[in-house]
Amino acid sequence: MTSVEPDARLSSELHAVDVEPVRTPEELELVYEIRREVFDQEQHLTTWVRDFPEDEHSLNVLAWIDGQAVGTGRVSLWGDEAQIAWVAVRKPYRGQGVGRAVMHSLLRWAREHGARIVTLNAQTHALGFYQKLGFRPIGRPFYMGHIEHQLMELELRPRQGEGGAE
Ligand code: COA
Repeated sequence: MTSVEPDARLSSELHAVDVEPVRTPEELELVYEIRREVFDQEQHLTTWVRDFPEDEHSLNVLAWIDGQAVGTGRVSLWGDEAQIAWVAVRKPYRGQGVGRAVMHSLLRWAREHGARIVTLNAQTHALGFYQKLGFRPIGRPFYMGHIEHQLMELELRPRQGEGGAE
């Protein structure tokens, strides 16, 4: 779906990132593996990574480097609002543009499917990551589990660009 060169400033050993929609049950299991690794084993945020029924009605993507699934994210459409969730990059692959490639892929899908606004609950440590994509904070931070979160939104304006989203 999306192919980007990772940020060459960050490492000389980087390879291209491909972001593809999840099409098979096996690929969905890879999504759950990454969610489990990041949100359960690393962050101790939740052991619940199989998010039904939303997963069935959403676009899940996988980011690939050299045949390895290294990142994931999900976008769901409710009317003209796209909701992004479960964005995660395996720790060794962070800082290489993988998260940005995942987000660009989700945002492109959202725009193509008629979304006018995109919302997400950011972990506040990752606020800067989403701000660089054009998202702005709405309201005050709140806790989900032990991790502080912040509701954020991005208005999609297809004709005039979308504030740095792509
Ligand atoms: N805070 C501020 N800026 C950040 C950031 C952070 N935590 N993480 C990345 N960025 C910046 C990068 O410096 C880069 O900036 P640049 O364009 O000026 O070079 C840009 O955002 C893109 O970064 P990228 O390399 O694509 O991010 P990543 O692949 O490391 O993925 C996360 C970012 C947040 C998805 C990843 O750190 C992660 O999976 N964290 C654990 C799970 C998590 O917190 N998920 C988010 C749930 S809301």
